[in-house]
Amino acid sequence: MELRSSRISFAVAVLLSCFYTYLGTAIDTITASRSIRDPETIISNGSAFKLGFFNPGNSSNRYVGIWYNKKSEPVVWVANRNKPLNDASGVVTVSEDGNLVVLNGQNEILWSSNVSNSVTNVSAQLLDTGNLVLRDKTNGTSIWESFQEPTNTFLQGMKLTSHMRTGPIVQLTSWKSPSDPSPGSFSFGIESSNIPEGIFWKDSRVHGRTGPWNGQVFIGVRQMNSIYLDGFKLLVDDLARVVTFTYSSLNSTVFFILTSQGNIEERNWVAQENNWKVTFRSLETECDVYGWCGAFGNCNPQKNPMCSCLRGFEPKNMEEWSRGNWSSGCVRKKLLQCERINQTGKVAKEDEFLKLETMKLPDFAVRSSVTLESCREQCLNNCSCIAYAYVVGIGCMTWMGSLIDLNKFPSEGADLYIRLAHSELEKKDKKVVVIVPVVVAIITSAICTFFLCRWLAKRKERRNAMEESSEQSQKRCSVNYVTVTVTEAR
Ligand SMILES: *[C@@H]1O[C@H](CO)[C@@H](O)[C@H](O)[C@H]1NC(C)=O
Ligand SMILES: *[C@@H]1O[C@H](CO)[C@@H](O)[C@H](O)[C@H]1NC(C)=O
Ligand SMILES: *[C@@H]1O[C@H](CO)[C@@H](O)[C@H](O)[C@H]1NC(C)=O
Ligand SMILES: *[C@@H]1O[C@H](CO)[C@@H](O)[C@H](O)[C@H]1NC(C)=O
Ligand SMILES: *[C@@H]1O[C@H](CO)[C@@H](O)[C@H](O)[C@H]1NC(C)=O
Repeated sequence: MELRSSRISFAVAVLLSCFYTYLGTAIDTITASRSIRDPETIISNGSAFKLGFFNPGNSSNRYVGIWYNKKSEPVVWVANRNKPLNDASGVVTVSEDGNLVVLNGQNEILWSSNVSNSVTNVSAQLLDTGNLVLRDKTNGTSIWESFQEPTNTFLQGMKLTSHMRTGPIVQLTSWKSPSDPSPGSFSFGIESSNIPEGIFWKDSRVHGRTGPWNGQVFIGVRQMNSIYLDGFKLLVDDLARVVTFTYSSLNSTVFFILTSQGNIEERNWVAQENNWKVTFRSLETECDVYGWCGAFGNCNPQKNPMCSCLRGFEPKNMEEWSRGNWSSGCVRKKLLQCERINQTGKVAKEDEFLKLETMKLPDFAVRSSVTLESCREQCLNNCSCIAYAYVVGIGCMTWMGSLIDLNKFPSEGADLYIRLAHSELEKKDKKVVVIVPVVVAIITSAICTFFLCRWLAKRKERRNAMEESSEQSQKRCSVNYVTVTVTEAR
């Protein structure tokens, strides 16, 4: 009897421990009664993501974060990025006011979801998308989501949002360094006051731009076409005046991270190497830094020096420019015809447009919905318009004032037409017009003369008996040469 009951209690104990072990690995929620303590973790239902405590890089500080269950790095979201724990006493729980909180050993709140709500019966669940969702348990509505407050990582299903008037609402902020998740110098968000585009900020100054959205990609990002299949979407809600940027890749293990150097990297999981691989970088050279060559400067990383003035422009400050300080940029050499009329009253030939191919288009475009032909016409008829471009998916873009942040791409990009005084375009063309025919004429007449002389010489030999003087034939040769040259060069 005794033996039997102890056997039963042993079996119950085994069952119970199995049950708890099962709970220990499969739990994906945190509630007031089910907190986690360092080093416990929770795992999302499909095992894609894990939430727990970690120390970044070589730091000994402890943070609460979310990472792919495949590998503990990189961490894709951090809760207490501003207030680390300096020991292993941390707890993640739901507080009495219904917020998700991170507490230290002294029960001080280091981080809170910080929503003011009257609901207290809540639970926080880690979803298989990597989103941590705080819900009202009574009706299941979401009160707060980690996707609303991203750190440096853009996961599938996340939304970078922006208000057309006030700017970015949800954006990415870099870590200070790989060992310090506190907010660093760089941030990335969508700017939608004009044609929507992605902007990198460094300490709240524009550090880089993606160029405008054409319906599929940002056209100022080299190689973005190669990652186009990642399904980028930019949705415009005209009523709410809010723009939303998302992506949904065919490959579920693709994500984007804003590094502490201010680069957006695409990372792909490579199963064979059991590691993440960088498959795309947004910023590659100094040309990708905003306005690197100044106004009217054109940046080409394949040239040395990288910066040059656009045709018809010269360095504003030659001394600075030759020292490699490009910040002052370039200025126009010759007044535009329309400016000349305004200033001197003199009429010259109408301005022309120079076509620049495979360009990253400059900042501050003004969009209008007209055809390509009207786009050119519209620009030509308005003296303030100094350049135009027509891009499928965007339409007609014109520029006034100055052209800033221009890059020459090896391929892709767009055609940019810049306005120049007629004489500026004429100059180079004139040389071509004059030199080519002269060279052709000289070569042709030289060849003609050579064959003519040979023919004459042969004839002379044959007709030696007829005693034609060699002097005469020589004369005819040179006369012929001069005649041919003069007529063809005209
Ligand atoms: C929490 O929210 C309140 C207002 O909703 C705000 O004033 C406060 O700064 C927030 N605290 C933190 C730590 O974000
Ligand atoms: C919280 O909500 C759940 C689901 O509606 C319910 O079963 C539970 O009793 C509630 N708990 C409290 C403390 O109200
Ligand atoms: C997506 O996954 C497929 C199959 O695993 C692979 O062939 C393809 O190259 C991946 N695409 C990208 C963009 O990584
Ligand atoms: C470059 O020139 C600008 C404008 O004259 C000046 O403000 C800046 O200090 C210069 N930068 C360097 C590195 O010399
Ligand atoms: C020239 O274009 C600018 C910008 O598109 C516009 O503000 C201005 O009114 C135009 N001027 C004329 C004379 O059309």
